[in-house]
Amino acid sequence: MTVYNIALIGFGGVNRALAGLIATKNPQWERQLGFQLNIVAVSDLYLGSVISPNGLDPRMLTEANFTKGGFGQLSGGSSEADNETVIKLAPADIVVEATFTNPKDGEPAVSHCRWALQAGKHVVTTNKGPVALAAQELKALAKSRGVRFEYEGAVMSGTPVMRLADKTLAGAEMKGFEGILNGTSNFVLGRMEGGLDFSSAVKEAQALGYAEADPTADVEGHDVRLKVVILANELLGANLKPEDVTCEGISRLSPHDIETAAKENCRWKLIGSAARGVDGIVVGSVAPKRLALEHPLAGVGGATNAVSLNTELLGSVTITGPGAGRVETAYALLSDIVAIHTTQPSREAKEAA
Ligand code: HSE
Repeated sequence: MTVYNIALIGFGGVNRALAGLIATKNPQWERQLGFQLNIVAVSDLYLGSVISPNGLDPRMLTEANFTKGGFGQLSGGSSEADNETVIKLAPADIVVEATFTNPKDGEPAVSHCRWALQAGKHVVTTNKGPVALAAQELKALAKSRGVRFEYEGAVMSGTPVMRLADKTLAGAEMKGFEGILNGTSNFVLGRMEGGLDFSSAVKEAQALGYAEADPTADVEGHDVRLKVVILANELLGANLKPEDVTCEGISRLSPHDIETAAKENCRWKLIGSAARGVDGIVVGSVAPKRLALEHPLAGVGGATNAVSLNTELLGSVTITGPGAGRVETAYALLSDIVAIHTTQPSREAKEAA
C-alpha cells in the first residue's frame, strides 16, 4: 500500500476539511485510489507548528475538535521561520500549501512552494498567488527536482477546469474562455436580485466560507483577475500578469441596475474572460456583464462557478460546479494528489532504474 506523508501549511478551513476527509476516507481511498494520506506536520501562523514523523491522528485535526485554544498540540501561533522549518524538515512526500493569497507578490505562499520543491517534495496548492504570479518559475523548479507542482484548486475549487482543458480536451485547440469565476460575487448578485442589500449579502458569503479574508478582492474583481491570468496562461499559453487584465468588480452595480436588468429578462454576472486575437495576442478582462437569460452563464446561481471554453474543433464547452467552499476546495487537493499518484513511477520501476 502506498502512503503519502503530507505536511499541511496553513490550517484554515481548506486544510482542516482535508484533515476531516483523511479521518474518515483513508480506507476507502486505499481501496479505490491505491493510497492513504498520513499527516506528518502542520504549520499555521495562528495555531502553531508540529512535526510528527509517525503521523498525527487526523481525527484530532477535524473542525469538530477545534477548541478556543486550537487543536491540542497545535495552539499558540508560529512564525514564517516555523513554516520554513516544517516545509524543509518534515518527512513529507507532499507539501499542501493552503495559506492566504497575497495578490501583490503571492508571498509567503510563493516561498513556501519554492522551499518545498527545492527540498524535492511535491507541492499541491489551492493558492492562486503562486500560480498566477510565479507558475513558470515553480514549474521549472519542480521539473528540475523531478517532483510535481499541482494547483487544480486555484480556479473553481474542485471543479476540474484545468485538467478538463489540458487532458480531456487536448487537441481541441483552445481559442478563449468566459466564466463566472468568483462564488462570492455571484452569490451576492443573486441575493441582491432577491432584494437583500449589498453588505448583508457579502456578510452572508463570508459566513458561508466563500469570501476571501478581505472580501474586497471578491467584489472588486481582483480574485477573478488572478483566475483569468491563471486560465489564460494555462489554457491559452499566454504569459499574462495581473496588470495586463482590465478589472472592474460588482460594487458599483446598484439595486436599480439589477431591477432594470430583471425587467428586461437579463441578469448581471461578473465575467472573467480571455481570448486570442487574430494577431495571436491574448487579451483578458474582468467586468460585470448584462446577460440575456438564455445565455449559458445566466442561469448559474449561488456560489456556483462556470466557464465556457471556446474551442476550434468542438465549439463551446461549458463546465459548471462549485468554485468555493472548504470541502470542495479540499477535494481539489485530493485530485492533485491522485494526479501525482497515477503518474508516479511504481516503486519497482524506480528500483529497476
Ligand atoms: N473567494 C473565492 C470565491 C474563493 O468566492 O470564489 C475561491 O477562490
